[in-house]
Amino acid sequence: MSLVASIKKLIPTAVKQPLRDYVDDQRWRRQDRLAFDSARLLPRSQIDIAAIMNDRDIGEAFVEDSVSIHKLFGGHEIPGGVNPGDRRALYHLIAHFKPKRILEVGTHVGASTLHIAGALKRFVEGGALTTADIVDVNGPQGAWKSLGLPFSPAGFLSRLGLGEIVSFVNKPALEALATDARYDLIFLDGDHRPQAVYCEIAAALKLLNPNGLILLHDFYPGGKPLTSDGYAIDGPSIAADRIGREVADLAFLPLGNLPWETKSGDKATSLALVARRA
Ligand SMILES: C[S@@+](CC[C@H](N)C(=O)[O-])C[C@H]1O[C@@H](n2cnc3c(N)ncnc32)[C@H](O)[C@@H]1O
Repeated sequence: MSLVASIKKLIPTAVKQPLRDYVDDQRWRRQDRLAFDSARLLPRSQIDIAAIMNDRDIGEAFVEDSVSIHKLFGGHEIPGGVNPGDRRALYHLIAHFKPKRILEVGTHVGASTLHIAGALKRFVEGGALTTADIVDVNGPQGAWKSLGLPFSPAGFLSRLGLGEIVSFVNKPALEALATDARYDLIFLDGDHRPQAVYCEIAAALKLLNPNGLILLHDFYPGGKPLTSDGYAIDGPSIAADRIGREVADLAFLPLGNLPWETKSGDKATSLALVARRA
């Protein structure tokens, strides 16, 4: 065992998390300013969230498609996965914007993956989703195993006839974002610490096709809870605040209240789009 590993073993568990938080905070304070090129983002003036979420044709398609997804995957909350209301919002966004190439960071159990892929199959001819995770989500270490789900994300997708649309990448986000590929929509739902989100948004902007979009999950403005369960994390909004101070023409658009329930009997979502101020 290395000296560093031996020292780490001696640190009491109760001190480990505060120590990690301290180290993260120091790294974040020292994070160099990055370039944020908003030129290829869709202008905010072209985004009407209420119209997208209230679109009746998309709503009817979702009801049809969710029957088979619910039968296999369930329509309930799964720890760490996007909640059922947010899955529906993802479906509406994909059906509306029709992005042909999508990158998702943070596959986990595939709750978001299944719904993005479902909307792609119905609404976007030739659409493809690449989903990346630092964990081998389809292997025995995947959350599907520890959470007792019957199938891995790949297993669910193939049983739903969505396997062809999705490819898996087992890499940390910044490696998955270091690619020549180009995307119309990039969904960031991986590491939610401020530094990670700051660096991932900068990297994602370089990969966008014209009129592209970045979508964030767990965006709690001011780090404040949106639902009555009191849950909130502040990393994405801390990163957004810094980007907002450094870059004039980037806008973070929280999706706000949805027409349906998300969790704890509330309708608020933590999804937020990144668009160009115009
Ligand atoms: C909140 S979960 C994603 C939930 C998923 N979208 C769903 O609906 O099932 C976050 C995931 O991000 C992954 N992750 C954490 N840090 C990462 C990183 N730096 N790069 C890639 N994935 C990361 C975790 O392994 C975890 O599976």
